[in-house]
Amino acid sequence: MSSREAEFRHVTASEGIAYNTLRQLIRWDPSMALGDPLIDSEHEKIIEMAEQVCVLARDHDKSPDLVSAFSNFGELLFKHFDDEEKKLTKLHADGLSKHIAQHQAMRSEFEFIRQRLMDDGIGWACEEQSLVVVNFMIGVTVGHVLESDAHQTLSQ
Ligand SMILES: [Fe+2]
Ligand SMILES: [Fe+2]
Repeated sequence: MSSREAEFRHVTASEGIAYNTLRQLIRWDPSMALGDPLIDSEHEKIIEMAEQVCVLARDHDKSPDLVSAFSNFGELLFKHFDDEEKKLTKLHADGLSKHIAQHQAMRSEFEFIRQRLMDDGIGWACEEQSLVVVNFMIGVTVGHVLESDAHQTLSQ
């Protein structure tokens, strides 16, 4: 088993997700670049901020700092989705509508989680706020940036 596989196995358990950092699963590497300077710099920042939010969620899940860090992450994420959609539209990218639908699902999920954090967890199906936040960050980074975005062509 490679060390990357070992890391994945470790974080699949909910304990692993709560007590390990996202950095153990993903960190920016130039080999992840898609060749568009704006999109690549935004992806790098998204991965960096996702890691910071996960640490806050794990260590200070009742802190107002978490709400503000999560909101800042959303600002970056929403701007990035707009930038990426403009580029993909200009390039008439394959699977454009499906990709935009994925962004829209993440926008909605982000708003749902942000509202619950602001309400201090009222209405959570899951009592562990940190797990919900970390799960969203894994979905955005490992699930979307490294998977869906990596299959898009961003340069002509
Ligand atoms: Fe992206
Ligand atoms: Fe995307």
